[in-house]
Amino acid sequence: MTARYETRGPVAVITLDNPPVNGLGYATRVGVAQGLERAEADPAIQAVVITGAGKAFSGGADIKEFGSPKATAAPNLLDLIRACELCSKPVVAAVHSVAMGGGLELALGCHYRVTAPGANIALPEVKIGLIPGAGGTQRLPRVLGVETALNIIVSGDPVKSELLAGLPGQKLFDKVIEGDLLDGAVAFALEKADVRPLPLVRDLKVRHENPDGYFQFARNMVKGMAKNFPAPAKCVDAVEASISKKFDEGMVFEREIFTALMFTPECKALRHAFFAERAASKIPDVPEDTTVRAVNKVAVIGAGTMGGGISMNFLNAGIPVVILEMKQDALDRGIATIRKNYEAQVKKGKLKADKYEQRMALLSTTLSYADIGDADLVIEAVFEDLGVKKAVFEQLDAVMKPGAILASNTSTLDLNKIAAFTKRPQDVVGMHFFSPANVMKLLEVVRGAATAKDVLATVMQLGKKIRKTCVVSGVCDGFIGNRMIEQYSRQAGFLLEEGCTPQQVDKAVEKFGFAMGPFRMGDLAGNDIGWYIRKRRYLEKPNLRYSKTADLLCELGRYGQKTGAGWYDYKPGDRTAYPSKVVAGMIEKYRASIGVKPRKLDDREIVDRLVYALVNEGAKILEEGIALRASDIDIVYLMGYGFPVYRGGPMCYADEVGLYAVVQRMQELARNPYGDPGFWKPAPLLARLAAEGGSFAAFDAGNAKKSKAA
Ligand code: NAI
Repeated sequence: MTARYETRGPVAVITLDNPPVNGLGYATRVGVAQGLERAEADPAIQAVVITGAGKAFSGGADIKEFGSPKATAAPNLLDLIRACELCSKPVVAAVHSVAMGGGLELALGCHYRVTAPGANIALPEVKIGLIPGAGGTQRLPRVLGVETALNIIVSGDPVKSELLAGLPGQKLFDKVIEGDLLDGAVAFALEKADVRPLPLVRDLKVRHENPDGYFQFARNMVKGMAKNFPAPAKCVDAVEASISKKFDEGMVFEREIFTALMFTPECKALRHAFFAERAASKIPDVPEDTTVRAVNKVAVIGAGTMGGGISMNFLNAGIPVVILEMKQDALDRGIATIRKNYEAQVKKGKLKADKYEQRMALLSTTLSYADIGDADLVIEAVFEDLGVKKAVFEQLDAVMKPGAILASNTSTLDLNKIAAFTKRPQDVVGMHFFSPANVMKLLEVVRGAATAKDVLATVMQLGKKIRKTCVVSGVCDGFIGNRMIEQYSRQAGFLLEEGCTPQQVDKAVEKFGFAMGPFRMGDLAGNDIGWYIRKRRYLEKPNLRYSKTADLLCELGRYGQKTGAGWYDYKPGDRTAYPSKVVAGMIEKYRASIGVKPRKLDDREIVDRLVYALVNEGAKILEEGIALRASDIDIVYLMGYGFPVYRGGPMCYADEVGLYAVVQRMQELARNPYGDPGFWKPAPLLARLAAEGGSFAAFDAGNAKKSKAA
């Protein structure tokens, strides 16, 4: 049973019990509805309390049922809320820990609400491209006023219950209960047992002094922030209806909006991202109950760009870190950068000064390997050079205690080779953070041929603890993200050779929705990083054609923002990218030297070439089993490379376009003899799915079924 019924004297207690967050799935809804009927029919019962077992009152809809007929089967959430309202005995919601989405909407259908302090109250539907669909937009303004309610609905972010309970005039909570919540709720229910009429949120009036002015203002604000997402503006419309329409009309209006949003590509993409993020944490052959290794102390090798950021993740999570460097001045520089980052957070009010000191107190430094042997996990972030990595891993093998996990942050090198530098390849794993490592949410967990399952399970769990989204990648040059970006960068280079300017390419890609075009991204990350990688990579693949423009740029010392010049010009203290005459001249000269007559390219060609370069390489990565799922690839691109969220990632976008159409377009692009003639040959998996009328999503679903059966 996912909802329990018991009695406390004359009070019936219905407890949602559907771990982990008491999602309002079909069985739970039936359980609550039956509980209400039973309480109604029992003359000894005078009042009802609804609460949640474990870690939540209710987190809302049961995501396991999303898209299945069960999600809407009767009694649906609206039926259940109506049943609460119609109960002839007072129904009290006893809220604690989490009351979100449908969970909060259910509480709003009860006659009374009491809360424990510290509960997270939210209507987060906007985060998956929707508005609340079970009366949230009509009832919340009635208890909190339109302004607070709209704020909660448009942001989707949680607010603590005691904060809301303290607002003047609020009717969301009738009482904050400090002691045992259930005891308090039962006592409260008994107090109200004889009070009639029973109060209903739907009967409350919504008022505002200047609704027209306010909603106009809200609309302008939201339009500016929401950019390509339709849901936030619709939140404003729905909340406005709570004041401009009668309750039942407002409910119909809310439902219409909800249903229409459900089918927009943006909502589909956001839901895809939501499920993709959850799916990514699962590794088919590593059971979820795998015993993990304890990680109570971390060592980081290298205090450069990455080492510092990586360390901050662990300090933030309260895990002690020791950083090892070759020289004291490198250590000093690294620590100064960490301090600077924290101090900026303190200045912005994002971090309390005492927390900053606590974090710094967890950090120690050393120049000697003898000091790090007792760490449970060591992450190497030294120069991207196999020789340097070899020296480091041989040392680690010599000093680290047995069972310690040895991780490398390499972005492109062969992890199996790195593992082979040690006598314990089973303990070696890749932890590929993204820059800036203390900010970016993505962590590629690279599984070597010998990596032990408990090492993987430990790193995946630890990733969660430091608030990263982990995606597993097999071993190949560049793993998932950087292997794909190589093809994207090659196309970007060909576009320059053929006639584009860097700003034209960036503009087209940014219009498509990327956070940054390839050239602005290069300037931010440092063009020298790619240059260095190309030197190794293209030495290994001498016949691979790529544009030399990026190398020429680096030969001019134009590494990007850090040198004050890259694909663009920069002014001191200003990150604005100004088109560069020097770069334009350099490209022109290069075109002439290879005998290319520039032509005009339109935005569509630019975007198709860059995005389909990602899709085609993604399909190869999927087919080779480097990525476990197409949706994992999407997560890598959404979280690590600024792919537009409302397009769901490159693979989801290709599905939306239709794989047949994608392949057709690639065949068209292949008619342009420029660049690499083999480039647009569709990956075998892509060609097969396109021919079968398949999709990457269906491919993932088929694999999930197979691995469940196995
Ligand atoms: P960096 O050059 O900023 O820092 C490297 C640090 O390692 C330097 O402080 C250097 O003194 C130290 N170091 C070098 N050899 C050492 C040794 N034998 N023992 C101890 N310390 C040593 O480099 P960055 O950018 O931090 O890169 C480090 C690693 O992270 C590379 O493998 C790189 O491919 C990878 N990476 C870099 C990203 C980026 O955007 N910068 C993103 C993801 C991964």
